[in-house]
Amino acid sequence: MEEISQIRRLIDECDKELVDLFQHRMKLVMEVLDIKKNNFLPILDLQREDEIVRNALANIKEENLSSEIETFIKEILKISRSIQSKKLFPYNIVLIGFMGTGKSTVGRDLSRKLNLGYIDTDTMIQERKGMIIKEIFDRYGEGFFREIEKEVISEVSKMKNKIILCGGGVVLNPINIENLRSNGRLILLKAQPETILKRIDEDDTRPVLRGYFSIEGVKALMQERNHLYNKAADIVIETDDKPVDEISSDIIRQLYSMD
Ligand code: S3P
Repeated sequence: MEEISQIRRLIDECDKELVDLFQHRMKLVMEVLDIKKNNFLPILDLQREDEIVRNALANIKEENLSSEIETFIKEILKISRSIQSKKLFPYNIVLIGFMGTGKSTVGRDLSRKLNLGYIDTDTMIQERKGMIIKEIFDRYGEGFFREIEKEVISEVSKMKNKIILCGGGVVLNPINIENLRSNGRLILLKAQPETILKRIDEDDTRPVLRGYFSIEGVKALMQERNHLYNKAADIVIETDDKPVDEISSDIIRQLYSMD
């Protein structure tokens, strides 16, 4: 039994070294971040991440641990990304815009790139009520949906360092915008009505589009909301014909140069 406690002491020493090394590594990462920032260099460097993983794999002495070591290094890189993101963007990144402008696709990509948590307020509303949005509208009406939306927006606005995806009608209530702005930057995604109709299905999951599912219909609804979207936005991004990677990289670049 004395033997096991001796080995455990050695393991504890290893962990201490790991913690020290981790802290040292993160300090160096932050130094690189400062240099990148001062010289307007891109923050995300996927080639460099690949190189780090390759270097680590080249140092492996125990072949049977290679896949675990790869996971370990990749996990460190993820943590490192989120620490950098939190330093660069100490607020929520909020996506707003008309239905079908790509908020959820872009939100997920941003969340993966920055390694920050992703929140979809429509999903929260559905989970809270145990019903899909169409059902909430049908059973209780739009006014009821907007009330829950307001509650949920107020809650998520108090969170930190999240990518928040809002439903297209969030701008209808100025309180929502006030809340979201208190701790977030608002990114407006835009698209032409033709693009929007191509991106969304006429499947009745978006009850506000009932009777508006045409170029003229989408144009009319957009017309009603456009001044609210523009007024709320810190950054505006056109999304027509752009791949998601380009859109999210553009958002990161613009946020980066805002401060
Ligand atoms: C709405 C947009 C929907 C959803 C609800 C109302 C709107 O979200 O919140 O159906 O008023 O524009 P998406 O923009 O994510 O489709």
